[in-house]
Amino acid sequence: MTANTPTLTESVLNALVDEARKAAQHSYSPYSQFKVGAALRLTNGQVVTGTNVENVSFGLTICAERSALVSAVSQFGPQIRIEAVAVANLNQKASPPCGACRQMLAEFIVPYAPVVFQSEDGMRSMKFSELFPMAFEMKLK
Ligand code: THU
Repeated sequence: MTANTPTLTESVLNALVDEARKAAQHSYSPYSQFKVGAALRLTNGQVVTGTNVENVSFGLTICAERSALVSAVSQFGPQIRIEAVAVANLNQKASPPCGACRQMLAEFIVPYAPVVFQSEDGMRSMKFSELFPMAFEMKLK
């Protein structure tokens, strides 16, 4: 661990999971019945939540994580940095962030950010850089 990889306490992460669970109660998921909530903790100390919002066209559905992300940028601007993520669902099933959400989070997250999610064996925490080691990057020069 180096000076620029600060750790968040367990109680901060537990509180983030609680926020994610609360957000899941707002889920609009009439097609899957899978109610997901996400909570992002920003380096400015703010917590922003989101939930999944489905659509009858299925493909237009937005996941909880991306919902929280667009809300965070909308509220606090493009300079935000995410220092922790929690994802929870009300279905007691494993739900790590999907690939599309990982790629979207990659744009704003610090690599050492813990990502807490439900796994087959209860809540699990992984560093974002482990969860998504090879994000697409566009280097034009
Ligand atoms: N979902 C999320 O909210 N986050 C994910 O990372 C994966 C899936 C939602 C989308 C859809 O409404 C439901 O879960 C079932 O796929």
